[in-house]
Amino acid sequence: QDLSGFIAGLPKAELHLHIEGTLEPELIFALAKRNGIALPYPSEQALREAYAFTDLQSFLDLYYAGAGVLITEQDFYDMTAAYLQRAHADGVCHAEIMFDPQTHTARGVAIETVFAGIARALRDARNDTGITGYLLMSFLRHLSEQDAFDTLQAALPLRAQYEDLWLGIGLDSAERGNPPEKFARVYQRCRELGFRLVAHAGEEGPPAYVRDALDLLHAERIDHGVRAEEDPVLMQRLIAEQTPLTVCPLSNLKLRVVDDLGQHNLARLLRSGAMVTVNSDDPAYFGGYVGQNYLESALALDLSRAELAAIAGNSITASFLPDAEKDKLH
Ligand code: ADE
Ligand code: ZN
Repeated sequence: QDLSGFIAGLPKAELHLHIEGTLEPELIFALAKRNGIALPYPSEQALREAYAFTDLQSFLDLYYAGAGVLITEQDFYDMTAAYLQRAHADGVCHAEIMFDPQTHTARGVAIETVFAGIARALRDARNDTGITGYLLMSFLRHLSEQDAFDTLQAALPLRAQYEDLWLGIGLDSAERGNPPEKFARVYQRCRELGFRLVAHAGEEGPPAYVRDALDLLHAERIDHGVRAEEDPVLMQRLIAEQTPLTVCPLSNLKLRVVDDLGQHNLARLLRSGAMVTVNSDDPAYFGGYVGQNYLESALALDLSRAELAAIAGNSITASFLPDAEKDKLH
């Protein structure tokens, strides 16, 4: 069996995925047309060619601009349905999906519209293919603490309606200069409300941000976390506590966190006993969905089939599924 077939056959969860990062240029153009929005690119091809990033911010600028074509509930539905279909084809049986309501509410899109479209696609996909999903509402860390509190307040009335889906919160966007401590009180409130907690840390930011995401935010999972390796004491803690790291190899390559995939620390982290998983982050922008991330990592880092299976197993373990569901997937 070829390697991509082997990878597709591994039951896996995707734990680090921004739904706005799944908007392919074709869908951006289709939605722009449907909504009468003019795009500053003459073609899908020209847009794709603009995806030459130098760092996280250079990507975020394009990513927030791309999300500007999302207006109606159907737009959010179509985006989410397209992702779930691709994920299912990659052997993803469960996806924990981040979304950034502030990107949309700032443009005048109601938070109800965002939730409704994404949730309807999740429920339809579950019925059609069996793929399951949870939602992690993510706060934009370049915005203020107050803005995050306002977003939480606006979302809470929807909680009962999406109880089966929305079970956690996350923290994303520009990491440097926006340390975890900025959101300590927001996370404290979310914790009291019983949400599961994840946070981006140690992508571009220093290992201290990973430590603070654990100690100040009480994050249960660290998104990226690759720079934790620079602090051996922190690394030993992550291993001892089996804190999951949702690593995104192609993202790290495209955003120049690493110069080439052969230099990525994924294999080293795995072999040192860390609870690492492989995920796609923003697959429409970074050159591949989760299967491609497994495949290119395997080729660049000589991951064995047993190691790929261990990574897929970790993704089930590190998910927020109930233990009985995990047992069925292991
Ligand atoms: N938003 C979408 N992708 C992100 C990433 N890799 N880091 C921070 N914020 C993001
Ligand atoms: Zn991310």
